[in-house]
Amino acid sequence: MTLSSWIAELLLISLTGAHGLHRFPENFVIAKRNDRNPVTLTCRTASSEPVTWKMDGEEVGFDDYLEKDGKNLIVQEIEEPFLGEYTCWTGEEKLSSTYLLQEAEVDEEIECRAKSYDCNFTCSWNHRGFKALRYGLGQECTKGQESCNWVSSSNRHQFVLSHALSPYAEERTMLEVTVEATDNLHFFRRTKSFYLRDIIVPDSPHIVRCQKVDQKLNVTVGPPSSWSTPHSFFSLEHEIQYVFRDDGMIQSSLSTLIPREISKLRVRSRDSLTLSEWSHPSLSAFALYMLSCVLTCLQCSLVCRIYDFFMTSPVCLFTYLWFRKGSVSI
Ligand SMILES: *[C@@H]1O[C@H](CO)[C@@H](O)[C@H](O)[C@H]1NC(C)=O
Ligand SMILES: *[C@@H]1O[C@H](CO)[C@@H](O)[C@H](O)[C@H]1NC(C)=O
Repeated sequence: MTLSSWIAELLLISLTGAHGLHRFPENFVIAKRNDRNPVTLTCRTASSEPVTWKMDGEEVGFDDYLEKDGKNLIVQEIEEPFLGEYTCWTGEEKLSSTYLLQEAEVDEEIECRAKSYDCNFTCSWNHRGFKALRYGLGQECTKGQESCNWVSSSNRHQFVLSHALSPYAEERTMLEVTVEATDNLHFFRRTKSFYLRDIIVPDSPHIVRCQKVDQKLNVTVGPPSSWSTPHSFFSLEHEIQYVFRDDGMIQSSLSTLIPREISKLRVRSRDSLTLSEWSHPSLSAFALYMLSCVLTCLQCSLVCRIYDFFMTSPVCLFTYLWFRKGSVSI
């Protein structure tokens, strides 16, 4: 486990610990906005004993707004403070729980990205303030059918979905992603349809080698490890961006042969068949080198670190000056 994933895990544990783990409610009734019709909440029990109703832990009294109909409860006013969790009881025994939720508008779109044509892709939905969320793939979920295979998620804005499309066949049907969320009073829903090929964004490629070839530099670019294989079938197009040493001009090239008189270079990729979105650029060759210097300085104990600092910083400095002079070599 890397340090960053360890920290992320720790953060997640403390977050879920602090707020409690919220699951998507199993039973709920959704009322449309501005719907004047009363809603009937059912007490799911086979027993014939009389029941009492509680709302958010408090026993409900019956009045113009809340009426009892046998074991069921009729809610006349679909507004706060009548939204929330209703439970029915016989004595101390809880029989069932139902959330009365009001449909609410959301503006935030679902964002989806795939790093390759393999089975997984990720979606995120940055809608704030919900306590529980679930998501599903396919028409069953879009239509809200029983057969939908929902995946619940708590406090997560990003989730991984798997599709069953063949990466070798032409894609004819769209993927449909549905997200539902609740803050225990309101109900939010969003759907997005798209072709997998339209959400492809490869990871950053890496620079394998730079070789001097006459007056040019031949840059060998390696595809990101997450990209689909075989690479001969799933081909990527690389664009090399470089900065001229003399005047700081920035140029880019789709050819791997670039001028030698440069001070920095970096590279980005896209699917060459569908002309997907470009990946993030790789770290520039120079930045990568400085980073490895800094990491070496940080890695060991304090004593070693002080020693290291004095040993490596002249090397870093020397390399820096050497880079500034213009010899690019990795
Ligand atoms: C897809 O995601 C699942 C669950 O997150 C994971 O277990 C699996 O290894 C992933 N598969 C690939 C090919 O990345
Ligand atoms: C550049 O490098 C690649 C692989 O590293 C090689 O196949 C190619 O022939 C080289 N190009 C030139 C012009 O030397």
